[in-house]
Amino acid sequence: MSELRLASEKRLRIFSGRAFPELAEQVASELGIPLTPTSAYDFANGEIFVRFEESVRGSDAFVIQSHANPVNKQIMEQLIMVDALKRASAKRITVVAPFYGYARQDKKHRGREPITARLMADLFKTAGADRLMCVDLHTSQIQGFFNGPVDHLFALPLLANYVGSKVDRSRLTIVSPDSGRVRVAERWSDILGGCPIAFIHKTRDPRIPNESTTGRVVGDVQGQTCVVIDDMIDTAGTITKAVDALFNEGASEVIVAATHAVLSGPAVERLKNSRVSEVVVTDTLPIAEESRFDRLTVLPIAPLLGRAIREVFEDGSVTSLFDGLS
Ligand code: R5P
Repeated sequence: MSELRLASEKRLRIFSGRAFPELAEQVASELGIPLTPTSAYDFANGEIFVRFEESVRGSDAFVIQSHANPVNKQIMEQLIMVDALKRASAKRITVVAPFYGYARQDKKHRGREPITARLMADLFKTAGADRLMCVDLHTSQIQGFFNGPVDHLFALPLLANYVGSKVDRSRLTIVSPDSGRVRVAERWSDILGGCPIAFIHKTRDPRIPNESTTGRVVGDVQGQTCVVIDDMIDTAGTITKAVDALFNEGASEVIVAATHAVLSGPAVERLKNSRVSEVVVTDTLPIAEESRFDRLTVLPIAPLLGRAIREVFEDGSVTSLFDGLS
């Protein structure tokens, strides 16, 4: 029995790219194993080299890389790691991308555009990935882009339980910042006892990147504590415009909850200057010290990733981690 246990523990291996090694360390520690030592460096012209410092033959390999800025480099490094694992006879390779880059390019808005979220899935498959694990994909349909199993994890219970412990639920309204996220707002409402939901009628000009025009609030938010939910805060334009619109409609307090803290360009200044009382995110992406501010709360995602990896490794059930969520 103990020999069998030893053999299975040896097969599970966690690998980290260079984007956010602290997260991979935390996940490995949740699983009670060390990270597999890996060397990685850049050549003078920017090309990436990776080598594992131990045999990986027969391993159930989980390659963790957050697609943080610079996104293209982090993705390329993860692809190279997968290629090296395949050539070194790993038995099964899972790409763990807590934040899946290019997820917003999941359809052609106009002619002659790419579907880059699909291209990403194809690249990982070609490199040798057997499965993908991600947290809160921009849209669930992206799962269908990868020809293999995708473990789509939800940060919703983590975020909603935290927010639920801090607010007066009798005055709570969940707000989707656009019509596409209303279904997620309904799930929040289910977890938080059936509070009302509202949404913001947001429009975007596809020719202008990173800019949205926030329209009107659909729903009654007068005197309410509003929780605006989103998958990501990138430049924070969407969220801060939503906060302004809610206060204009009489909201008494606004909290923001989002899974991925991309925090590009003006995001931190915008959030600091807004009337939002708290911004709650997870650490699927690294958040630099200078991007942290008093009203920012960062919840750890490593326990969820650790539990999901354990379920996959032990042929358990990832779905069971989210019982009740559809
Ligand atoms: C859009 O559909 C996404 O869900 C986010 O609302 C958006 O990408 C956030 O970007 P930004 O913070 O730059 O407005």
